[in-house]
Amino acid sequence: MSQIRPGGPSPIIAPSILASDFSRLGEEIRAVEAAGADWLHIDVMDGHFVPNITLGPDIVKALRPHVSIPFDVHLMIAPADPYLEAFAAAGANWISVHPEAGPHLNRSLKRIRQLGAKAGVVFNPSTPPETIEWMMDEIDLILVMSINPGFGGQTFMHSQLKKIERLRAMIDACGRDIVLEVDGGVTPETAPLCVAAGATALVAGTAVFKGGPEAYAANIAALRRA
Ligand code: DX5
Ligand code: ZN
Repeated sequence: MSQIRPGGPSPIIAPSILASDFSRLGEEIRAVEAAGADWLHIDVMDGHFVPNITLGPDIVKALRPHVSIPFDVHLMIAPADPYLEAFAAAGANWISVHPEAGPHLNRSLKRIRQLGAKAGVVFNPSTPPETIEWMMDEIDLILVMSINPGFGGQTFMHSQLKKIERLRAMIDACGRDIVLEVDGGVTPETAPLCVAAGATALVAGTAVFKGGPEAYAANIAALRRA
């Protein structure tokens, strides 16, 4: 895992396939990889934990041979535990769960690592930073939602910048190289705010996929300049 710190090298850019053309997923992910994406962010929704339905492990598995960049799988499903093994087997490198999706966050995180993936915790806009205070050692990635999860194309919630700062301080205090990622409404305008607050990875759907394949490289570069 790269040691990417605020003020250091540019953030990890993780395009969210939610904004891609679902009828051409293989082509789309090859195009963003060629355009400079560091990771691929895959949003899994169940129509129950969030009011939208997307895709499952079979699609993740089908996509895996198309690119070599890491798969950053964001599970917006409840319960998540019964599906962790399937997503790990499908090729997820990073698997993130919402604390609200099950009764035993610590158990879910341990299970993700046991399966050979990196473990992430996702913060809804209302989830307090203290949720992970006693499990910093079990976490490889923190994902701060700057929108309510469920849909792409929403407006960035500036209220979450303070939370990013707080989580940055918690990460620095624990001394571990935990990735601090932001998801929702990330654009060339909001990306610098996230990085200044301490983010080291940025998810972007709309801001990467707008304009079609010819625009992907410029769109990614514009976010990276943050
Ligand atoms: C929403 C997803 C996001 C979404 C972001 O629940 O978690 O990853 O794709 O889309 P944009 O970048 O358009 O806000
Ligand atoms: Zn996401």
